[in-house]
Amino acid sequence: MKLDRKDLLGLRDLSREETELILNTAIPMKDVIGRDIKKVPTLRGKAMVTVFYENSTRTRTSFELAGKYLSADTVNLSVSTSSVQKGESLRDTIKTIEVMGFDLIVMRHAMSGTPHYVARNTRMRVINAGDGANEHPTQALLDMYTIKEKKGTLEGLKVAIVGDILHSRVARSNIYGLSKFGCDIRVVGPATLMPPGVEKLGVKSYYSLDEAIDGVDVINILRIQRERQASGLFPSLDEYAQLYMLSPQTLARAKDDVLVLHPGPINRGVEISSELADSTQALINEQVTNGVAIRMALLFLMMGGGRDEITY
Ligand code: CP
Repeated sequence: MKLDRKDLLGLRDLSREETELILNTAIPMKDVIGRDIKKVPTLRGKAMVTVFYENSTRTRTSFELAGKYLSADTVNLSVSTSSVQKGESLRDTIKTIEVMGFDLIVMRHAMSGTPHYVARNTRMRVINAGDGANEHPTQALLDMYTIKEKKGTLEGLKVAIVGDILHSRVARSNIYGLSKFGCDIRVVGPATLMPPGVEKLGVKSYYSLDEAIDGVDVINILRIQRERQASGLFPSLDEYAQLYMLSPQTLARAKDDVLVLHPGPINRGVEISSELADSTQALINEQVTNGVAIRMALLFLMMGGGRDEITY
């Protein structure tokens, strides 16, 4: 089985069947991660490069590790020490990488649409690892995998996405992904961090945390994207925390078995209390592990040459 597309740029254009294929392929990949010898020869002879114009811990490292577990040759281009700093253009940087023979590039960029531009101008397969406030498809896929693993299904779940909706590519990709499974999606945050017309995406918007999380199965808490915010979007972090921080106390209106997700990195005491972040109810660390499995699944489906089985 193979993804019948050259690139993975977002979840908006991914079909439900393609989404299910990726989620299902991640299940055996997670088995590989759990082994003593975490290595299969499936992508031997393939080469991939990670190119991140924005900082990352989880996404970049897990893509690199996913490639290594599948035996691909994996290189990270460190943008901060590359010839980008000598003024080399994006176009020339990508061409230079392409002619070295890489099969796939994983790219993060602060400007929305950059991976789409690259995808149109290279023979390499492109995976979007986050473009501005647009999409972060692999984060949403790993969130969906984590939810499905715990709940057994995604179908019809009530999901609240809390915080900086305006600047969040994680929110957008989650909305696109979860909508394909009939989820009841609520978004909640300060009015200044709510995109105008967000309801057109098929979600309900709230300003009250209590109302938004009433009876929900899942709460996905967003990081305050200070790097993308103009100043003055809310009075202070303290006041934000008073209204929107999730803690064991503020969870009271959600279902007893509510799942708490956060893409990380977390701002403790701002979006989530330390007590909740470190509790068994929060799946933050499991999300990171599942991120490796999802990225292995994608690399396998995109570079595996149509092989039906993982080579063990
Ligand atoms: N969730 C996420 O994208 O984390 P990083 O920025 O550390 O990759």
